Amino acid sequence: MGELTGKVALVTGGSKGIGRATVELLAREGATIAMLARSKEPLAAAAQEIAGKYQVNVITETADILDPNSIKKYFEFLSKQIDQIDILVNNAGGSEQRVSKESVRMVATVDAPGDPELPPSRFADMNEEEFQNAFNQKFFGMLRVTREAMPLIRKSGDASIVNIVSVKGNQSPPRVLTSGIAWSACLNWSKSLSFELGPEGIRVNVVSVGGIVTPNLEGVHERFNEGETFEEFFKHRTKNVALRRLGQADEVADAIYFLASPRSSYITGQYLALDGGSVRCM
Ligand SMILES: NC(=O)c1ccc[n+]([C@@H]2O[C@H](COP(=O)([O-])OP(=O)(O)OC[C@H]3O[C@@H](n4cnc5c(N)ncnc54)[C@H](OP(=O)(O)O)[C@@H]3O)[C@@H](O)[C@H]2O)c1
Repeated sequence: MGELTGKVALVTGGSKGIGRATVELLAREGATIAMLARSKEPLAAAAQEIAGKYQVNVITETADILDPNSIKKYFEFLSKQIDQIDILVNNAGGSEQRVSKESVRMVATVDAPGDPELPPSRFADMNEEEFQNAFNQKFFGMLRVTREAMPLIRKSGDASIVNIVSVKGNQSPPRVLTSGIAWSACLNWSKSLSFELGPEGIRVNVVSVGGIVTPNLEGVHERFNEGETFEEFFKHRTKNVALRRLGQADEVADAIYFLASPRSSYITGQYLALDGGSVRCM
């Protein structure tokens, strides 16, 4: 018997990176796992591995959090498979940053103001579509998943929602303003939701991440590197990180697990930053 035996956990984007590491911990403690992502094969591979390793039921189906119809269909499917959701981890998402013409390298949350390698600001030439895209990608994705999940979450009686955001939501440098603002919306919405759903015994918390080594960051390196190794490419990104390194997906998964599980049963409306000390919020 694990700590989560009898519980059902839905992890969006459970096939890779932070989501994949989280699923591992939830399954190890006996939870039934539901996960969604857009690509079928990584989902199927992860499901096979997890079900084999932990002898738990793993339910997979492809869905795109950016498409309301896809999410509606996903929940029609899921509600035929399970009776309740006890844990929802809103993790799926990508990050595409617009590349400024003047920028000589990829920008990062922790870039120091006035860094001579970076253009001074890009606000003046950002258009509304960029802001709308960021909101669609970051905020509306998690909003629509949570809304469709609510009937199943309400059946739990003891549910926990953990929303994964970026530390940009707390402190948005000018050059990544669009996603920073959209992540702030996720923070404020999570705060509001924790108060609204608390009386029903539903907890809502946020895990906020800095630079974490996942396929997402590996993709950034692949796209923008000019011959530098992964370590060389991201070295500048750790300049303002107290611990002077990027994080690992399993370090984030530990925090998500804590907030998802009964170990945090009296915690709601809170924010835990996994960023090595880049944004100091105490
Ligand atoms: N890693 C970082 O440094 C970092 C920093 C700040 C914020 N974050 C946020 O943390 C979360 C997890 O990041 P990660 O680094 O673990 O990413 P990752 O390695 O790229 O994994 C993302 C997961 O989400 C799925 N996904 C992406 N877009 C989706 C969509 N539209 N609909 C459904 N599933 C989707 C992916 O599968 P498919 O591609 O098959 O859909 C995959 O399973 C994301 O929301 C990301 O924005 C990460």
